[in-house]
Amino acid sequence: MSKPSVFVARLIPEANIDELKKHFDVEVNYEDRHLSRDELQARSRGRDALLTLLTDTVDRALLDSAGPQLKIVANFAVGFNNFDLLAATERGVILTNTPGVLDDATATHTWALLLATARRIVEADKYVREGRWKGWSALAFLGLDVDGKTLGVAGMGRIGVNVARKARSFNMNIIYTDTTRNAEAERHLGCRFVDKETLLKESDFITLHVPLTPDTRHYIGQTELNLMKKTAVVINASRGPVVDEKALIAALRQGQIWGAGLDVYENEPQIEPGLTELENVVVVPHIASATIETRLNMGRIAVRNIIKVMHGQPPETCVNPDVLKRA
Ligand code: GLV
Repeated sequence: MSKPSVFVARLIPEANIDELKKHFDVEVNYEDRHLSRDELQARSRGRDALLTLLTDTVDRALLDSAGPQLKIVANFAVGFNNFDLLAATERGVILTNTPGVLDDATATHTWALLLATARRIVEADKYVREGRWKGWSALAFLGLDVDGKTLGVAGMGRIGVNVARKARSFNMNIIYTDTTRNAEAERHLGCRFVDKETLLKESDFITLHVPLTPDTRHYIGQTELNLMKKTAVVINASRGPVVDEKALIAALRQGQIWGAGLDVYENEPQIEPGLTELENVVVVPHIASATIETRLNMGRIAVRNIIKVMHGQPPETCVNPDVLKRA
């Protein structure tokens, strides 16, 4: 009997591919180039399982062109805004993500962005490399204190909690907002639940950890930026469209807020014109979970999910659980 067929839409750690190959006929997009919709559809045709990245749109058209034998699409990401949940559930296709294993890496990266922005690390690094440093100065590269300041966490899920936990070593006052309260975080981390407006007004550092949904698109726009302190710093390691990039650029340009640290962008990999010309922003290319260990662990979850589903078992991390009730 032939083995089930799996298509891996981009390169992932080799150990993950080797593991898949023990069980399945595996085709990998070894070119590691983002496939167009047509290419992804063509290469998904007849597959039993797909392993996708957050840059691959998994919609009705893709599911239909893959065919009715398709059982699972495993995302190599915790975020799954690239999935059409309803379309997959209607077709009996299980969708999975990789939660848990990337919380530390993503939260650490959030802190790297926050500290780099507050202490102007990237600007200062560039200055030294360009040979412009002429000696110590009392007023060069003045940044912002972090210790003892107020951290505002928007979205107190696993990653938000991890960021807040790390904030305790900076002796910060932690406030948060979310659609529901996180009693455990309040108890263990001493953080205070506030409404969004209070968070925007009181925070020195605002860090975004909400998922991208129709409700959170442009969660931070001109109105929200207007409410922030002039010394506020915004950090986004969630999804780009959570921030209205045009409004952010205007606010950074006009000194309406102090700075921003960005891992994600509205139209990746396009960057809104004007953003990279600003000195008060740190920009990195969507790498929050990019550590050797974390990426391997993300792949392990995706692979285990595929193996389980192909053996008729429920996956570890289903994002459209209604589909399992139909089985
Ligand atoms: C990365 O952005 C992820 O969702 O895993």
